[in-house]
Amino acid sequence: MVYPNGTAALSGINLKIEDGEFVFIVGKSGAGKTTLTKLLLREEKVTDGKLRVDDFRLEKMPKRKIPHLRRTMGVVFQDFRLFPNKTVYENVAFAMRVIGEKSSVIKQRVPYFLNLVELTDKAGSFPTELSGGEQQRVAFARAIANNPKMVIADEPTGNVDPEMSRDLMDLLIRINKLGKTVIVITHDHYLVEQFKKRTVTLDEGRIVGDRNGGVAVEA
Ligand SMILES: Nc1ncnc2c1ncn2[C@@H]1O[C@H](COP(=O)(O)OP(=O)(O)OP(=O)(O)O)[C@@H](O)[C@H]1O
Ligand SMILES: [Mg+2]
Repeated sequence: MVYPNGTAALSGINLKIEDGEFVFIVGKSGAGKTTLTKLLLREEKVTDGKLRVDDFRLEKMPKRKIPHLRRTMGVVFQDFRLFPNKTVYENVAFAMRVIGEKSSVIKQRVPYFLNLVELTDKAGSFPTELSGGEQQRVAFARAIANNPKMVIADEPTGNVDPEMSRDLMDLLIRINKLGKTVIVITHDHYLVEQFKKRTVTLDEGRIVGDRNGGVAVEA
């Protein structure tokens, strides 16, 4: 994938992630990890080659299908992407409203998700009034609120303390056990070693490793 300014962010990628898999994506800063997320969301388009998510063929998918594609995934962005003029509650509720969820369901589920990420007492706060870790947890709650088939978390533990990091990871493992595909992008080698899951390593836009709990998957 080549950005308009000529930067080749990803090249020669051949990667298949099965339904229900848990995969870590690791690699140095600038390796192409976030670009991969943007491709999966069709925020960027592959310059060349094919990309399929579920039954969506992203290289030739018309723009009008993008909302359908995005409904299948919940994404925790590296920079959170919260709505600055909405409260914590509204950030989560809005994501549910957009997909046409009934307000009775929203009223019930938002408090549930805020409790899950321990932000009940911040429901009325605006993003600027929160710490980085709190913002990250709002992004997390919003990503999982619509029960997506796939969760992508870009550095989900980057701003939280070790205990919260463990809680968020436990949550991702639980989500995965429910049959969801989970992709976790991280710099944290300790995290990767601890969980013994498939780990794809990117370096300068290429896959340089694909290991399954310590065993090489394929050369
Ligand atoms: N919008 C853009 N236009 C041009 N180049 C870009 C753009 N976004 C990213 N890049 C470049 O593409 C490459 C991959 O960037 P990407 O954001 O995918 O890295 P990353 O692995 O997520 O890094 P980090 O760990 O720092 O988040 C880098 O060389 C970066 O400078
Ligand atoms: Mg990134």
